[in-house]
Amino acid sequence: MDKLQIVGGKRLDGDITISGAKNAALPILCAGLLTAGDLVLTNVPHLHDVKTMLKLLAQTGLAVKQEGETVTLNGAAIDTLEAPYELVKTMRASILVLGPLLARFGQAKVSLPGGCAIGSRPVDQHIKGLEALGAEITIEGGYIYAKCAKLKGASIRTEMITVTGTENLLMAATLADGETILENAAQEPEVTDLANLLVAMGAKIDGIGTGRLVIQGVAALHGASHAVISDRIEAATFLCAVAATGGDILLRNTRTDIMDAALDKLRDIGLVMEVGADTIRATMNGRPRPVSFSTTEYPGFPTDMQAQFMAVNTIAGGASRVTETIFENRFMHVQEMNRLGAAIRIDGNTASISGVARLRGAPVMATDLRASASLVIAAMAADGTTIIDRIYHLDRGYDRMEVKLSAVGADIVRLQ
Ligand code: EPU
Repeated sequence: MDKLQIVGGKRLDGDITISGAKNAALPILCAGLLTAGDLVLTNVPHLHDVKTMLKLLAQTGLAVKQEGETVTLNGAAIDTLEAPYELVKTMRASILVLGPLLARFGQAKVSLPGGCAIGSRPVDQHIKGLEALGAEITIEGGYIYAKCAKLKGASIRTEMITVTGTENLLMAATLADGETILENAAQEPEVTDLANLLVAMGAKIDGIGTGRLVIQGVAALHGASHAVISDRIEAATFLCAVAATGGDILLRNTRTDIMDAALDKLRDIGLVMEVGADTIRATMNGRPRPVSFSTTEYPGFPTDMQAQFMAVNTIAGGASRVTETIFENRFMHVQEMNRLGAAIRIDGNTASISGVARLRGAPVMATDLRASASLVIAAMAADGTTIIDRIYHLDRGYDRMEVKLSAVGADIVRLQ
C-alpha cells in the first residue's frame, strides 16, 4: 500500500493548476446513461473515483473513450442495467446510476452502498423520491431492484438536503412524463454543474442553483459537450496548506465565485488573497489566527473542508471550535493530528482545538479522503518527518496531490 513521506517546515512558492471537481464529474459521467448521443466532457480530473465510475459505466455497455482530461461517452448500446456490489462497495457515488438507468430503461439493479468511515449515509431519500416518481422498488440480498413502465412527474420534498439524492432525482425527472418539483434541493455548485449539462442535453429545468428545482420531462435527451466545473475543495485545500506553511502561491483554473465561505475563513486566518475571475494569489506570513465554524450545506461552510481547516487551527495562535453537522463521524483525523502533537478534544459533534506552537512528525494513518488531505497539511507544517499510511484515500479524490505540492516546494514523496 502506498504511503506519503513528508518533511515539514517548507514554505510553498509557485503556481498550482486546479483540476475539475470530483463531485461534479461523478454525477456528470452518470448522465451519459441518459442519452444515445455522444457526451463530450472536458476538465475531467485524474482520480481513482473517476476510474471506478468509468469501469462501472463501461460494464453497462456505455462506450467510454478517455484522452487526457477529455472523456467521450456514448450510451447507444447499453445492455446491462446493473451496478454490482464489487464496484459500489468501493465508491458510494455509484448510486448515481440508479436514477438515469431507471428513467431511460425502466429498470435497474444497484447494490446498496454499505457503511462508510464518515457516517452511516443511508440512501432512503433517493429511494423514496424515485418511488414518488412511480418506481416500484424492492430491496433483496443487498440490492435495490427498481422498475417502472415510465416515470411520472411528482412533487418531492426530501427530508434533508442531500447532494447525490438531488442529483439522482434530477436526472430521473428529466425523462419522466410531466412536471417534477424538487423541494429542499441541494444548491451545491456541483449540482448546478450537472443541471447545466442536462439543459445542454435538452432537459427543461427551472430554478437551477436554488433549493427548488422544477423539471418538465422530455421524451429523450441528446448528446452535448461540457467542461466540468473547477474543484473548489481542491483549491481551498491548497489555500489551507499555504496558510499552515506560509508562502506565496498562485492557483489557476479556479472558480472563486463558489468559494465564499472558505475564502472568508481563510481571510480571518490571516491569508492575504488577490482574487481574480479564475485565479487566486495567496500569501501567508506568520502564525495563523484560529477560526471557529460549523459545517452546513452550500452556501455555508462545506463539510469537505472541515478537516483541512482543523489542521490549520492546530497551529493557530489561540483556541477554536469546529462543529460538524452533516456527517456523524467525520472527526477521524483528530486522533491522528493529536499523534502529531495537536491539542484537540471532541465533545459530541464539536471539536475544541488549542493551537500549539509546533507539531512534530510521526507515523499516522489516513482514514478517509478529506482526513488524508488534512494530515498532509498538518505534516507539511510539522517539524521533522511524517509518514502517512493508507494514502489510497487521497488518490480517490485529489488529482496527483503530491506532484502538485512538490512542484511548489513541499518535501513530499510517495513510498510504494
Ligand atoms: N442522508 C440520508 N439519507 C439519504 C441521503 C442522505 O440520511 O438518502 C444524510 C447523510 O447520511 C448525511 C446528509 O444526509 O448525513 C447529507 O448527505 P448527502 O446525501 O448530501 O451526501 P452525499 O450526496 O452522499 C456528497 C459528496 C460528499 C459530501 C456531501 C456533503 C459526492 C459524490 N459526495 O455526498 O463528498 O461530503 O455530499 O456535501 O458528491 C468528499 O468529497 O469527500 C465527500 C464525502
